[in-house]
Amino acid sequence: METQVSEIADGIFRLSTYVPDIAPPAGFTFNQFVVLGEEPLMFHTGLRKMFSLNHAALVRLLSPERLRWIAYGHFEADECGAMNEWLAAAPHATPAHGQTGVDVSLNDFSDRAPRILQDGEVIDLGAGKRVRFIDTPHTPHGWDAGVLYEESTGTLLCGDLFTQLGNDRATTDGDIVGPAAAAEDIFRYSALNPGMGATLRGLADLAPRTLALMHGPAFTGDGSAALRALAEEYDRRVTSELRERLPSAA
Ligand SMILES: [Fe+2]
Ligand SMILES: [Fe+2]
Repeated sequence: METQVSEIADGIFRLSTYVPDIAPPAGFTFNQFVVLGEEPLMFHTGLRKMFSLNHAALVRLLSPERLRWIAYGHFEADECGAMNEWLAAAPHATPAHGQTGVDVSLNDFSDRAPRILQDGEVIDLGAGKRVRFIDTPHTPHGWDAGVLYEESTGTLLCGDLFTQLGNDRATTDGDIVGPAAAAEDIFRYSALNPGMGATLRGLADLAPRTLALMHGPAFTGDGSAALRALAEEYDRRVTSELRERLPSAA
């Protein structure tokens, strides 16, 4: 296995590791993202067992000692597993996550004191880069779920939203909602809840130009339309589940 590096927006890089053994024959990608600036930020650490792969990829971009932030969208092994390996390799980096994630997980798990990012809070990375943390509880899963939005490039680092199988391209301007629905049918990874649609429509209001998928290609185009279509997809699934399981409430 090897971790591929590609620039998906100005100064934003995707570190992508393809695992053919997950959901074969399509396989599955694990992506994390680096936003360059005077205070470079990495979004997610990758699995603990992939640390050496991701480390070898990141040093092609910058010295880990230059990393100032390691931010998280929710606490699971593929997002956070290598947290402490990275904190050791990046002695000037501060772990950062939303209030719930810090209170529930990072305060205990992280070897270095984390910084709490409030909903809507911005970190100015310098060199024109600004990332905003947005709470998205239970969307697609995780009490602590959130996303990061880089304002200058209009890039939404959207974590597990739009998760899809396969590894045919690093970027796409094609459909990402159909492949996400297909992956949902297989993995059932989303915590279906009535608030999902409103959460996703709130993200659509940002009008992102790039959607950086943690599991899939980076989408460039009308991010707002894609998010609204995903909201409709989840609304359909929530309604269908209610009709099936709680017919008196539907
Ligand atoms: Fe996840
Ligand atoms: Fe993930």
